[in-house]
Amino acid sequence: MTRHSSRRPHSGPAIETSNLVKVFGETRAVDGVDLTVPTGTVYGVLGPNGAGKTTAVKVLATLLRPDGGEARVFGHDVVAEADAVRGRVSLTGQYASVDEDLTGTENLVLLARLLGHGRAAARARAAELLAAFGLSRAAGRQVKHYSGGMRRRIDIAASILNTPDLLFLDEPTTGLDPRSRNQVWEIVRAVVAQGTTVLLTTQYLDEADQLASRIAVIDHGRVIAEGTKGELKASVGAGSVHLRLREAEQRPRAEQVLAAVLGEGVEREADPLALTARITAAGGSRGPAAAELAARALADLARQGVVVDNFSLGQPSLDEVFLALTDRRPVDAPATGEHPATDGRPAAEGREKSRETQERGRAG
Ligand SMILES: Nc1ncnc2c1ncn2[C@@H]1O[C@H](COP(=O)(O)OP(=O)(O)OP(=O)(O)O)[C@@H](O)[C@H]1O
Ligand SMILES: [Mg+2]
Repeated sequence: MTRHSSRRPHSGPAIETSNLVKVFGETRAVDGVDLTVPTGTVYGVLGPNGAGKTTAVKVLATLLRPDGGEARVFGHDVVAEADAVRGRVSLTGQYASVDEDLTGTENLVLLARLLGHGRAAARARAAELLAAFGLSRAAGRQVKHYSGGMRRRIDIAASILNTPDLLFLDEPTTGLDPRSRNQVWEIVRAVVAQGTTVLLTTQYLDEADQLASRIAVIDHGRVIAEGTKGELKASVGAGSVHLRLREAEQRPRAEQVLAAVLGEGVEREADPLALTARITAAGGSRGPAAAELAARALADLARQGVVVDNFSLGQPSLDEVFLALTDRRPVDAPATGEHPATDGRPAAEGREKSRETQERGRAG
């Protein structure tokens, strides 16, 4: 793919917001958001329905005017310098914008012409993108006859006709089958490899896990956690132990032993032989490392005659992070809840802490 936009070098972050607010009547859709999105990466914004993801994206893409705070895109204020921002960004919306009655080729050629490409250049660019997105065979078909996955791909193709410096992808894979999701992920990776920064909103943890370098979890218009995947995972606990026993009758005994060593979070899995235990690392940051605790638990199980067939020690999944952050907090509780990364200290300090936890985990 060729890069068509004129790029001025920008050494700072792609996006920087400070106390950003957008209100709809009584609803504070975006309620004081601070974000820093490094240039050249995929940044994930994760949140449940109604969290404020689309609203935040629209403000950053200059489609909505903020009601408070500040947002800069490549150093340009989204209100005072909206034109400069528009020249550098592109948006693939949750409900996207190609014309249903036109064919794939017609859509891309029309949009390329609107962007100022000559006729031949527009046709060449359209053909190039259709081929890159696996849509050459469907190029002559009306978009209304495309499958959901093809539709998403043509939407993204339309948004990168001029390779933007910053691409907003608002839930690009919602409703797609696993194969189509993988195709979209490949496209995102290719776009980033070209130097574009991507801000990706998603409700899918695995998507953020696959693509994003850093993730902000938002809920009720606020950032409730922010960091790398590792930092977010480390912040809900040191990890978890999964084990599978030889005999189901030994499970209650195993549960007792695990609880004695690892503390509360021992859970039975649907498989009658399996148990999962969250390592909440007794003793906080000065306590023993996750691996040491797990080894101690295994030794105790052996001593008690519990036979373990299979054992693994893993970081918590992003699903656990998400549930811990978004589910167990009452709707109106302040954003600074019981979560270690956001317990009232500045975010940076919270991040320091989780990095420390992570390194301890690795050292052990
Ligand atoms: N134009 C609007 N007028 C009034 N309320 C709105 C408007 N747009 C969004 N909202 C409200 O703002 C809140 C945030 O909505 P938003 O669409 O940003 O959430 P979202 O995180 O994108 O959710 P989803 O995952 O469902 O797309 C919701 O309570 C929504 O009802
Ligand atoms: Mg949305």
